[in-house]
Amino acid sequence: MFKINQNFTKLPASYLFSEVARRVNAYSQAHPEVEIIKMGIGDVTRPLCKAVVDALHKAVDDEAQAATFHGYGPEQGYGFLSEKIAEYDYRRHGIDMDADEIFISDGAKSDTGNIGDILSTADKVAVTDPVYPVYVDTNVMAGRAGELLADGCWSNIEYLPCNAGNGFVPSLPSGNPDVIYLCYPNNPTGTTLTRSQLKEWVDYCRLHGALLLFDAAYEAYIREDDVPHSIYEIEGAKEVAIEFRSYSKTAGFTGIRLGYTVVPKALKGLGDDGEAVALNPLWRRRQTTKFNGASYLTQRGAEALYTPEGQAQVRETVDYYLENARIIREGLAAAGYDVVGGVNSPYIWVKTPGTMTSWEFFDYLLDRYHIVGTPGSGFGPAGEGYFRLTAFNTRENTLRAVERLTGSGK
Ligand code: MLT
Repeated sequence: MFKINQNFTKLPASYLFSEVARRVNAYSQAHPEVEIIKMGIGDVTRPLCKAVVDALHKAVDDEAQAATFHGYGPEQGYGFLSEKIAEYDYRRHGIDMDADEIFISDGAKSDTGNIGDILSTADKVAVTDPVYPVYVDTNVMAGRAGELLADGCWSNIEYLPCNAGNGFVPSLPSGNPDVIYLCYPNNPTGTTLTRSQLKEWVDYCRLHGALLLFDAAYEAYIREDDVPHSIYEIEGAKEVAIEFRSYSKTAGFTGIRLGYTVVPKALKGLGDDGEAVALNPLWRRRQTTKFNGASYLTQRGAEALYTPEGQAQVRETVDYYLENARIIREGLAAAGYDVVGGVNSPYIWVKTPGTMTSWEFFDYLLDRYHIVGTPGSGFGPAGEGYFRLTAFNTRENTLRAVERLTGSGK
């Protein structure tokens, strides 16, 4: 009989957001009359902006004519988009970037999950805690995580707790990890790191030969000057960091899917023979073998984001969600909740009242106020006693949710 990848059996039976959805569906079926406000998974509610919709329509017309039809595209994405990314997302911000350092994909979730393909399964991993579960779960699948311990940690992963005690700022690792995941603005806490704080991480990686996997999926939400949008704003980062970006929360692409990953040409890891090996060709090899490229349509849609209209329309959408975040943050704080995040981020991280666990608070909010959030403990042991709300619902529902939670409205 063939054998399975045993690592999969070590994982909790369902992925965090699938478990939340399962519980919400069960509740809805039992209470069909109840109108539930969803502030759980970070899925957007605003439609695609006009610039993108127009570009998508035009791309469909291209596909309808033999002369402009596109079949398989380049696995790493079309030059018309990667050139725009290099120019608008990097060079215009003073960061050196070539288009062939950019790999367009169907989103940051896939890429943060797949990047381990080009790393040794012997690499030791460090994550902040709480953390986006994809980083941990995919390392469990690859066999890097070890065993699940009674405290909810995996034996081979170093956890860097982020809590009220340290202002949600992780300490540098002590266990000499080879690979470090950072997500800033942070999912789930909504907190950020300043330029000098991020510099410490880049310096650490340079000194210790560690790889920094930097998830910048929420960079469009940054409004404060001292918070870098890209890890490459930090000197020397191109030698130690891979950056992941997404159009999901920026431009509402959660449904149509698109993101990209930057693998700088200067970034090198160690081969078995002790020689330095560039990661850029490895990732290209991985993508060309396992991925056939994001769709032509979606890439044309994203290209339109780099026009003046596209930029303005996207900014308006992100500002809308940031205003929702302000309403949630200030409303809950005024009602006596301890909250962080929601300033440069669509996520608000709330301390559960009293001794309530994260899942108890989840059940309480669902049952009493018909509001869905995400239990903090689902993001790691240090998330216990916390709860994540998203600002991605409509203004109307956001106001209603805050009113239900606080009895005030704002
Ligand atoms: C989240 O809610 O954490 C994200 O939407 C999940 C994702 O992007 O995959």
